[in-house]
Amino acid sequence: MIKISPSMLSCDFSKIGSEAEEISKSGADMLHLDVMDGHFVPNITFGAPVIKSIRHTSDIVFDVHLMISEPLKYAEDFVKAGADIVTFHVECDSDIKETIEKIKSLSCKVGLSVKPETPIEAVFPYLDQIDMVLVMTVEPGFGGQSFMYDQMEKISLLKEKIRETGKTIDIQVDGGINDETVSVAAKAGANVFVAGSAVFGGDYKERISSLRNRATAE
Ligand code: DX5
Ligand code: ZN
Repeated sequence: MIKISPSMLSCDFSKIGSEAEEISKSGADMLHLDVMDGHFVPNITFGAPVIKSIRHTSDIVFDVHLMISEPLKYAEDFVKAGADIVTFHVECDSDIKETIEKIKSLSCKVGLSVKPETPIEAVFPYLDQIDMVLVMTVEPGFGGQSFMYDQMEKISLLKEKIRETGKTIDIQVDGGINDETVSVAAKAGANVFVAGSAVFGGDYKERISSLRNRATAE
């Protein structure tokens, strides 16, 4: 199933609550919330209190992307703040299995992400326990970067591996997604599309529907 997850990193932070509400009324399936700690990535965004403060604006799925070094230490804060799915990086400093188990024990879905230089095989040992794999299509840290076409091969490999498991696992792409690249990623096998600048740079409803139509056409 195709899902569009606008990234709040590109919203107007002075009115993040009403931006979240407007996105959820504009046909989005999820709301992507980028948490950066200035250590795992060279940028700092927001933490659990900010997410908690906008939870009341809608019941849309909160798709929390943790770009932090120690997800195990903070996972519970994000689930309590209202995350429906918590995605963390396989390159982090926490124990991966323990972090997955922690998030699941809180009745929250789990995603595991790979940075562009990490082979997709790094997530294979965990496929049985997770709900989503996020294949980064830019170096994590900033919005507005260019899509890395060379990541598509990883998606095809992952899709094949998921088929072997017989499980339903979403494949998410994040970074540089626009009307052109959404088609490329969908063709490769992705089904969840994060888009920051492409959504917030125009009319939200029109942008989300255009991305959805293009992904569905593949
Ligand atoms: C980057 C973040 C992305 C970012 C995408 O590290 O994970 O979610 O907001 O922004 P765009 O869609 O502008 O590339
Ligand atoms: Zn993200």
